[in-house]
Amino acid sequence: TNFKTKILCIGAGYVGGPTMTVIADKCPDVKVTVVDINQKRIDAWNSEDLPIFEPGLDDVVKRARGRNLFFSTDIPNAVREADIIFVSVNTPTKTFGRGAGKASDLQYWEKTAREILEVASNDKIIVEKSTLPVRTAAAMERILNSNDKGLHFEVLSNPEFLAEGTAIQDLFEPDRVLIGSHQTKSGLAALQKVVDVYAHWVPRERILTTNLWSSELTKLTANAFLAQRISSINSISALCEKTGADVDEVAYVMGKDHRIGSKFLKASIGFGGSCFKKDILNLVYLCSYYGLPEVAAYWESVVKINEWQTHRVLESMLEKMFNTIAGKKIAVFGFAFKANTGDTRESPANLVVRDLLAEHAHPVVTDPKAIHDAKRDLADVLDQVTFEEDPYKAAKDAHAVVICTEWKCFTELDWKRIYKSMAKPAFIFDGRNILNANALREIGFEVSCIGKGVAE
Ligand code: NAD
Ligand code: UDX
Repeated sequence: TNFKTKILCIGAGYVGGPTMTVIADKCPDVKVTVVDINQKRIDAWNSEDLPIFEPGLDDVVKRARGRNLFFSTDIPNAVREADIIFVSVNTPTKTFGRGAGKASDLQYWEKTAREILEVASNDKIIVEKSTLPVRTAAAMERILNSNDKGLHFEVLSNPEFLAEGTAIQDLFEPDRVLIGSHQTKSGLAALQKVVDVYAHWVPRERILTTNLWSSELTKLTANAFLAQRISSINSISALCEKTGADVDEVAYVMGKDHRIGSKFLKASIGFGGSCFKKDILNLVYLCSYYGLPEVAAYWESVVKINEWQTHRVLESMLEKMFNTIAGKKIAVFGFAFKANTGDTRESPANLVVRDLLAEHAHPVVTDPKAIHDAKRDLADVLDQVTFEEDPYKAAKDAHAVVICTEWKCFTELDWKRIYKSMAKPAFIFDGRNILNANALREIGFEVSCIGKGVAE
């Protein structure tokens, strides 16, 4: 009851959980409550076994939970007492109706607005934390402010830029925090309250404020640009394979140009994750909606080339493995969409496994953190896939190992031992270029990397 400010976050997922944990940790004078409709998820947040794996998260949760950080399913009470409500529910791609496959599904989003309205009895600041189509705040405001209780709701946009696997570090030391508001008296006053929260630990010059629409659009654009860099380098990786150039060398030297920069130029089997594809397709849909088909096509190509890149793994396997992998055991190393997370949403490994199945191969999936979610994602083909915690067992008698996730532990394996246990010739397809290819070739492996042709 002595708390200066009461913050509520609706949605206790990959974003709501870690962001609110860090706010609570850094702002002991603020009470932070995180609610969700998913009882199991809330129970897990209140237990020793958190619902998501994120390096460093456990310690911060332990410091703040029960002090000024609370996880609950009592949404009405939490709404009633909150001054500032962050909304961090899922905004997946629509699977039905108009815009299916591209537009954002805003049903969970709109539902929260109506829930807030139903129980609120004083003015509140509503903060969009979810990634949303530009101009969503206008819809949110109309729903909220069409009340007959005489209440005013100020809607702000505060998109989240954390990346999974480094969420805690990203939240502790963000490159920038973005807050968008109406440039009105009440908009700017609300903005100041949210700035004050972040100013507990983020240097003021890193807290950037813009108008609402810029803020909403910046989030989609930032993800589109990051993904675009990966698609650009991946497209070049194919040309490298044809010509004998080495994509890692090309990227390294290019990255030394400060105008280009070195980050997000790692060639791979393709980007995954719950954000990039969804957010670019949302951008594509918005461009079409606003009558800009050329802009839509430009960004859509980033997603198309990404899928093509993932399918190239199978092409490469067929080419090297005598045009048939039917009946062959293939070890899939990594199912998480990137290292240091158990998250498998939109993981390229999923596509690789399905490509293998289409060729009647026998995939064996191993991953240090993601087997649980892998089983969920592959539920429809569970009888055709084997899961194995131990990478050595996964590789035993296999004709090939395919590296799908850049887990460090894969680089530390005893590859001589793996070689001895595999069918010969033993193939490795390193979809992340993390292994020492020359050392593996000395052991006897046939190694294929991304974007590395035969130098002649
Ligand atoms: P998530 O699915 O992990 O979590 C969303 C949670 O919201 C779920 O637990 C769900 O049960 C809950 N929820 C849905 N409707 C609700 C309601 N009416 N009341 C209470 N709870 C409700 O999703 P996420 O990965 O945390 O992403 C959330 C948003 O943040 C998305 O818009 C996403 O695009 C954006 N985002 C995600 C990341 C990321 O790395 N995952 C990064 C930046 C932004
Ligand atoms: C991304 C954005 O980075 C983050 O700012 C935003 O808030 C949410 O979306 P995330 O999807 O969690 O974060 O991870 P990210 O590190 O961006 O990786 C996305 C995918 O791209 C992964 O599959 C990763 O392996 C792949 N990737 C990344 C590459 O293939 N090459 C690279 O150089 C970088």
